[in-house]
Amino acid sequence: MSTSPARTLKGSRRLQRRRDRRSPSPQWQFLRGFLKNPVMVGSIIPSSRVLIEKMLAPVDWANTKLFVEYGPGVGTFTRPVLEKLGPDAKLVTIDTNPDFTRYLKDSIDDPRLVAVNGSAADVEKILVDHGLGSADYVLSGLPFSTLPAGVGEDIAEATANVIRPGGAFLVYQFSPKVRDFIAPHFAPIKRGFEWVNVPPAVLFWAYKGERQA
Ligand SMILES: C[S@@+](CC[C@H](N)C(=O)[O-])C[C@H]1O[C@@H](n2cnc3c(N)ncnc32)[C@H](O)[C@@H]1O
Repeated sequence: MSTSPARTLKGSRRLQRRRDRRSPSPQWQFLRGFLKNPVMVGSIIPSSRVLIEKMLAPVDWANTKLFVEYGPGVGTFTRPVLEKLGPDAKLVTIDTNPDFTRYLKDSIDDPRLVAVNGSAADVEKILVDHGLGSADYVLSGLPFSTLPAGVGEDIAEATANVIRPGGAFLVYQFSPKVRDFIAPHFAPIKRGFEWVNVPPAVLFWAYKGERQA
């Protein structure tokens, strides 16, 4: 029996509706991650669009070949970064929560994205394992102030080792304490603040060596 195009279309719409019902919304997936591990996730609501645009505003996208994101969660920053990134560039995301990493792999179909389940403290090994060189930018949504003792220092040092001279570490946080971790490795460090976020966040743009305008 032959299948009419209308019937195929109806069938594919039904399939899509079933798929939509099965895959949870990013907000629900994020809340689930928070309830499972509140200390590691550190926030109950994903970042606001206003915070995302402010944090990413100084990025020189035309000269970005490798962008690394720590703690992507359900991809709140990941999707806008992919929208801005060039066609030949790569985005490596690193998250300790395997549910979030699987969610990113299932919901974002983009060959530029390399979603890794692991700790930001291992960024050097992760980039080597994937045959990648220095990063132009590293973005962090990690809850630095609630990380286990010593982890924040390790992450700041490893991050300084993978960013190329002139590149930058972009950090948004609810506590300004993160500056203590990054100050030994980066200069200059520019600071900002965003009220339109729950909770409001402090932003740091920490450059490796002199800023290349
Ligand atoms: C506040 S959430 C940020 C989520 C998202 N980027 C946003 O802006 O909405 C923090 C994320 O950091 C992840 N995380 C915590 N410790 C980590 C570590 N050492 N390495 C990588 N990811 C980590 C958590 O699993 C969580 O996804």
